[in-house]
Amino acid sequence: KIPVIIDCDPGLDDAVALLFAFGCAGLDVKAVTAVCGNQGLEKTFLNARKITAFAGMDIPVAGGAVKPLRRSPVTAAYVHGSDGLGGLELPDPPPASSPDAVTLMGNIIEKSPDPVSLVAIGPLTNVAQLLSSRPGLKPNIKVISLMGGAVEGGNVTPRAEFNIYADPDAAAIVFSAGVPIVMAGLDVTKKALMFEADAAELRRTGRRIPVFAADIFERYFRYYREQGIEGCYLHDPCSVAYLLDPSLFTSGKMHVSVGTSDGELLGATVCSGPDSAEKQANAEVLLDIDRPRFIKMVKDALNSY
Ligand code: BDR
Ligand code: CA
Repeated sequence: KIPVIIDCDPGLDDAVALLFAFGCAGLDVKAVTAVCGNQGLEKTFLNARKITAFAGMDIPVAGGAVKPLRRSPVTAAYVHGSDGLGGLELPDPPPASSPDAVTLMGNIIEKSPDPVSLVAIGPLTNVAQLLSSRPGLKPNIKVISLMGGAVEGGNVTPRAEFNIYADPDAAAIVFSAGVPIVMAGLDVTKKALMFEADAAELRRTGRRIPVFAADIFERYFRYYREQGIEGCYLHDPCSVAYLLDPSLFTSGKMHVSVGTSDGELLGATVCSGPDSAEKQANAEVLLDIDRPRFIKMVKDALNSY
């Protein structure tokens, strides 16, 4: 089993990524940490605890950064609602009892006999703080499988994707940390489409977790329909799927730098390669996905509860 920590900002697709990961026999999710992003930390932390408890997972959940390293917070309530979960109700979780996110991640990585993989599906503030404050732990991080950025295009500005734009300074630290990085950017996540028929299939099971996932997809479909898009993008679950089966994806090794100054490139991931001679690759960038196989994997995991 692959030991994993999931750093997230639930978030509708984060919620799906968590339920997907918890339902996968190949992953050993050691902890969940929350960061401010789609909503403020108070809400993303509460949502992370609610989802973890709802899935019956007895693992620590910790809260991390309340704001980006240097910039003012930006949220995505327009996608995920004012509570970060599209108004979906879940039972109250047990009170929080873990140390802060960076301490928890550090402790787990330090003690783990096998290198730990990080799935980072929110802004990279917590991960950057971990790498800066405990650089000695880097050799015991197997990979950072992150959702963020894009080779081309953006979803907040014409060039920037939300997770990177929300804390570009943190992203710049992570991409230059010398830890193996797999970037699932919009190039691939916009191909990771879930359709209404898939959600209907989950609903028909009548079981708690797949039906809840179908409710999430309903909220998501509504948002995307308004944009003229059929189905919804499963951005964050791509970073979980990569750990389980990299062969779902085609990818290229690239050098990725992050725009941290005001202007057109703020929050953009500037990707060069794979042929660029002058800069060494610092990330494996996912470019395409076997959608049917990916969707089946997500549905199987959700149905496994
Ligand atoms: C990313 O931004 C968030 O709104 C989603 O949860 C995902 O992590 C997509 O750009
Ligand atoms: Ca997210």
